[in-house]
Amino acid sequence: MRVLVTGGAGYIGSHTCVALTEKGFEPVVFDNFCNASPEAIRRVEGIVGRNIPVIEGDVRNRRALLDAIESHGIEAVIHFAALKSVGESVAHPLSYFDNNITGTITLLDAMQGASVHRLVFSSSATVYGQAERVPATEDSALSVTNPYGRTKLVMEQLIGDLCTAQPAFGAMILRYFNPVGAHPSGRIGEDPKGIPNNLMPYIAQVAVGRRDRLGIFGNDWPTADGTGVRDFIHVMDLAHAHVAALRGLDQHKGATVLNIGTGKGTSVLELVRAFESASGRQVPYAFAERRPGDVAELWADPTRAEQVLGWRAEHGIERMCEDTWRWQSAYPEGYA
Ligand code: NAD
Ligand code: UFG
Repeated sequence: MRVLVTGGAGYIGSHTCVALTEKGFEPVVFDNFCNASPEAIRRVEGIVGRNIPVIEGDVRNRRALLDAIESHGIEAVIHFAALKSVGESVAHPLSYFDNNITGTITLLDAMQGASVHRLVFSSSATVYGQAERVPATEDSALSVTNPYGRTKLVMEQLIGDLCTAQPAFGAMILRYFNPVGAHPSGRIGEDPKGIPNNLMPYIAQVAVGRRDRLGIFGNDWPTADGTGVRDFIHVMDLAHAHVAALRGLDQHKGATVLNIGTGKGTSVLELVRAFESASGRQVPYAFAERRPGDVAELWADPTRAEQVLGWRAEHGIERMCEDTWRWQSAYPEGYA
């Protein structure tokens, strides 16, 4: 099956292209490279030993999408392309609405125009907002705490409405928890531009000497060690969830929402210690103020994903740290 992978040169997209190719799917990358390097796809090609077609294009361009779908005989779409920085979305909401929501509407319209009816969509645990209780199930209350989160919630609803209106459409809406780690080869990984917003790349850049110390946002949360708790999931486990979701689309019509996490919470301090042990490096840190908008703890109930897809996460925190370190230590400056 030929699969259009929007945002396929990005962090999760590039790892998913490896998993897809290894499972016999043919990914076609569609990316405008606003937050990615073409080098990522060259490395993916090196890992899988095959060429991967790459189209430089924007998901807000219907004509470019239709050309890509028609010229490559696309049968399904995995839609990663989005802007994803919470802070930036607060400062520039319109560019998030345009890129993420207009981009998704344009993609759905192009899929309808080309009679492609299988979609796997990147959603986020951000839709649980200030979750009332953990673990979060797919039926937990949803809320919005920033414009990025609003775009994910709106896109989920748009996809749901389309699937209701057009029974031929099937969509797997995957709510990722906290993706971390890298391909075990260490040749591809997460390469944030500028100062990392997220914990794992920040830790990795401190360990490799690019940054002096980690700021830990709060040690007075109501958690066992006072630091925030999250559900970190290995990016290759996440990649395999996309393969399972594509396969599941033939049995499940309509829109199916699934949590993609491990079901285990790990604190910021536990992750720091695990990284020190995996890397053999010290990760100096200092406690700082709580970050606005953060929640004390959030982890997934991933039961439904296992029931629906037969998928569950395999890798623990140690492996996530080892693989991140292999990538970060081999390529301290990322793809640069
Ligand atoms: P990423 O920024 O590495 O990848 C996104 C890719 O989309 C990039 O390659 C970028 O160049 C491309 N892109 C952005 N706008 C585009 C447009 N208009 N047209 C074409 N290409 C465009 O991010 P990622 O971490 O790989 O995230 C992938 C998806 O998963 C996103 O939808 C993100 O919101 C979602 N997600 C990520 C996380 C996370 O922590 N990484 C958590 C939950 C959900
Ligand atoms: N943290 C620090 N220092 C840092 C970065 C993070 O202490 O430099 C802490 C945060 O306060 C939080 C934990 O590490 O307690 C995890 O923070 P991340 O920024 O790595 O992840 P979040 O859970 O805040 O957010 C991520 C994605 C969002 C997504 C959300 C829910 O970045 O896009 O998960 O899925 F919406």
